[in-house]
Amino acid sequence: MTTHKKPWGGRFKDSTERQVEEFTASINFDKRLYRYDIKGSVVHCKMLAKQGIISSGEEKSIISGLDNILEDIETENFSYSVDSEDIHMAVEKALIDRIGEAGGKLHTGRSRNDQVSLDMRLYLRDEVTTVIGLIGILKGCLVELAKNEIDTIMPGYTHLQKAQPILLAHYFLAYREMLIRDGDRLKECHKRINVMPLGSAALAGTGLPIDREYVAESLDFPEITKNSMDAVSDRDFIAEFIFNASLLMMHMSRFCEDLIIWSSEEFDFVRISDSFTTGSSIMPQKKNPDVPELIRGKTGRIYGNLVAILTVMKGLPMTYDRDLQEDKEPLFDTVDTLKGCLHILAAMTKNLTFNREKMLKEAAKGFSTATDIAEYLVIKGVPFRDAHEIVGRIVAYCIEKGRDLQSLTMEEFRSFYEGFDNLVYDFVSVENSVNARNIPGGTSKEMVLKRIEEIEKEMQEK
Ligand code: ARG
Repeated sequence: MTTHKKPWGGRFKDSTERQVEEFTASINFDKRLYRYDIKGSVVHCKMLAKQGIISSGEEKSIISGLDNILEDIETENFSYSVDSEDIHMAVEKALIDRIGEAGGKLHTGRSRNDQVSLDMRLYLRDEVTTVIGLIGILKGCLVELAKNEIDTIMPGYTHLQKAQPILLAHYFLAYREMLIRDGDRLKECHKRINVMPLGSAALAGTGLPIDREYVAESLDFPEITKNSMDAVSDRDFIAEFIFNASLLMMHMSRFCEDLIIWSSEEFDFVRISDSFTTGSSIMPQKKNPDVPELIRGKTGRIYGNLVAILTVMKGLPMTYDRDLQEDKEPLFDTVDTLKGCLHILAAMTKNLTFNREKMLKEAAKGFSTATDIAEYLVIKGVPFRDAHEIVGRIVAYCIEKGRDLQSLTMEEFRSFYEGFDNLVYDFVSVENSVNARNIPGGTSKEMVLKRIEEIEKEMQEK
């Protein structure tokens, strides 16, 4: 049992049970919104004064009280009172404690329902901008890797089976393409976050003569929400952000998975520097790729957060329901995790050394230029299906004899098809195979260099 007085205490005879207070409180996690909550309140207060709803004396005292609270929170001199349910009530209570009666006027024409939406939008708007910046940094790291490895040939895989030789640079730029889409999606999502909900009040708007456009302009929102009921119950922008984060994590997780496989002794394509790996507490010889493994693992957490917000929203009756408070932890966790992963992945890219010889050696194995020989036959006028069949028989022959395509004699080639000539040897080399893919989007050195040039030009224009 407690007897703390609540801002909404008027209609209640009994005070709130302690365990109910604890159960319903969000202060432990929503206190991170303090800066946005105060920023919104300052503008709301200025608007109330401008509209003559409060006096200019009250305005001054509210704003100086809020400034004071902000400073105390930032310098860690603020103690959240035990009965403050959430950040909105904590700030309001502190304000009333400090400036008295005028503090009680701040909440005029406003509800926590539109206030919390405003805070979340202000917060996420900033975080999205930060995330877009971090994506830009990671994109830059991938371009650096591509430039460093422009001559590195490696086996390209499908089904994790050797398929065709590719440039390692082409591989890095593939990830960069994914990150471009991730950035675009976040910019789109930013538009829908960037809408000002205050004035929707509890659900129906307010009867007081407030000025919503003024609030929007002062807080740098290009538009205001058009329906008060939608505004207080909408969390689409949060679900959308977490979905975008999920795709971004999925991309990082795939990159990490490759690095994990490639750093195994069996592949030995890449070495992750000691400073970015960890040891085993029992096996002295071990060097483990924990950083990429954790990024891969944390992707699961973000998917969980997406399912959480979608499930919280499903079937909620209009309009605000307390369930909506459950939007915060999944969102905050997503933002923190995502930023952490983007930071460390960018740093890790600078700590990779590629085993170029091994990659090249492996690229030549596994009959990876079989398609090139088929394409050579096509140029000679053989229908592709027949060419496929001929080369298939050559590969079977090589497997049986333990040979590779490069070592076959002209006589051997001709035993499969009379029309073979010396030109075929150009088609079995991995360098030529890579450079033959000289069409836009292909892996030839010329095309990859062209793409890098394009990217650098875009970067300069920015
Ligand atoms: N802490 C609440 C939340 O995060 C703020 C809104 C409370 N509104 C209410 N009607 N109880 O959703």
